Amino acid sequence: MSEGSPIIRFYRGSAIIGTAPADPETPLVEIAEHAGVTIPTSCTSGNCGTCLVRLVRGTVELPEELPPGLDEDLVADGGILTCCLYTSGSCDIDVIPPL
Ligand code: FES
Repeated sequence: MSEGSPIIRFYRGSAIIGTAPADPETPLVEIAEHAGVTIPTSCTSGNCGTCLVRLVRGTVELPEELPPGLDEDLVADGGILTCCLYTSGSCDIDVIPPL
């Protein structure tokens, strides 16, 4: 990997638990798997919110219409659904979802 390639870092609170290269074609939950981090999923289609985590730094593309598992309050707290969202840039993600 060349220096400066985008990378996703996974945290549990303040402890880093894994890193993997960013890939805009791969949902974040699979990137987590590449990093050795298991994020629970259920519907895998943006409906249930099981795969909710918190985006600490970086940008994740949100669809114009939020998936049913997300709402504006969660988004304001950094909430993202890893089963159906993607990013091409570096991000820090806390696997502990927003309360
Ligand atoms: S697994 Fe259901 S919203 Fe992601």
